[in-house]
Amino acid sequence: MDQAGAEMNVPLSQPSITDVEVEAVLAVLRTPTLSLGPRVRAFERAAAEYVGVAEAVAVNSGTSGLHLCLAAAGIGSGDEVITTPFSFVASANCALYQGARPVFADIDPRTLNLDPARVAAAVTPRTRAIVAVDVFGQPAPIEELRAIAARHDLALIQDACEAIGAERDGRRVGGQAKAAVFAFYPNKQITAGEGGMIVTDDRAFARVLRSLSNQGRDDDGTWMNHVRLGYNYRLDEMSAALGLAQLGRIDEILDRRARVAGWYNERLAAMNAVRAPYVAPETTRMSWFVYVVRLDERIDRDALMAALEADGVPSRPYFVPIHLQPLYRERFGHRPGDFPVTEQVARTTLALPFFTDMSEGQVDYVCDRLDGHVARQLGRPRRSQGGPSRRSGVPA
Ligand SMILES: Cc1ncc(COP(=O)(O)O)c(C=O)c1O
Repeated sequence: MDQAGAEMNVPLSQPSITDVEVEAVLAVLRTPTLSLGPRVRAFERAAAEYVGVAEAVAVNSGTSGLHLCLAAAGIGSGDEVITTPFSFVASANCALYQGARPVFADIDPRTLNLDPARVAAAVTPRTRAIVAVDVFGQPAPIEELRAIAARHDLALIQDACEAIGAERDGRRVGGQAKAAVFAFYPNKQITAGEGGMIVTDDRAFARVLRSLSNQGRDDDGTWMNHVRLGYNYRLDEMSAALGLAQLGRIDEILDRRARVAGWYNERLAAMNAVRAPYVAPETTRMSWFVYVVRLDERIDRDALMAALEADGVPSRPYFVPIHLQPLYRERFGHRPGDFPVTEQVARTTLALPFFTDMSEGQVDYVCDRLDGHVARQLGRPRRSQGGPSRRSGVPA
């Protein structure tokens, strides 16, 4: 939304599309094959190679990828799936699709990822799987979660929808769980328009995933032979071509996003009431998905968001806890207080504009306005007075 009085209008997010992507999609349209063709297979091969796993199965969203992982793992009615309440709703909905119950475990207040001790405490005789989310592009503590999964014979699925290219202890996210899922919605690091990719080292599991994504067809290629209840979760050729072109630029894209995060970090260092995202020492490469700051508890977030919006700076609370979503309150009786760490974090988070092609001037503008509004709310002088690179000042 354009703000009439704003000096700049900064998008909240925006894909980075070059001529390479445009040409790749146009090339598909010049062929007769718009689905089930060579681009999907090429995208799958490139993704498997990038992650370093045996198999990759393309699907039409991250959500459908998560659903298929639970379906292929045999999760069903009466089963429990442990996941985090601090995520996008799909991380828990995938259990509901299978008639299973999402059981939440609270998070580490610094990394915002699942706290393994709380996961272990949530295991019951009905638990069958863990869905571990790499929140905001920071890898979950997958080794500890693997140990819990092994102890109780649980399927460990990594919801890496926000974390393509991230590394924990030098290992790229994707090969450590039974399967991991990436997502390619346009606000993600790389996009396919809509799309997702499941990666796994388990070839038999991949065969089932592929069949489930394609109406339950057998892998002998017989078109009208449906051996299981499947779905149409196929990725089309245009999306695959776009995703493949973006994957070809992933190092450049992740580096540029890290540079934008670095600009933010520098400027926020001068603001006491707004904290930059925490990056754990185990996170040897952050795959910056969003830039989510933590606000001082005294800041009125809604008022701050409205003031920023009027300046052409959109921002969002990120996340609203899953257990407090109306569906989850009604179905499972969740209430405020059920997961106090998640709730405390969720009250104070704010996602600022963040995208690959964001300029240093845009970061300056956002931080300048943020600092001004925060200082005004807290009734004190601004912490970071405009330096030479600051384009505009806000009176304290
Ligand atoms: C953590 C997480 N899980 C799952 C999804 C679902 O991905 P999609 O929007 O492609 O269905 C998203 C993205 O929106 C996400 O951030």
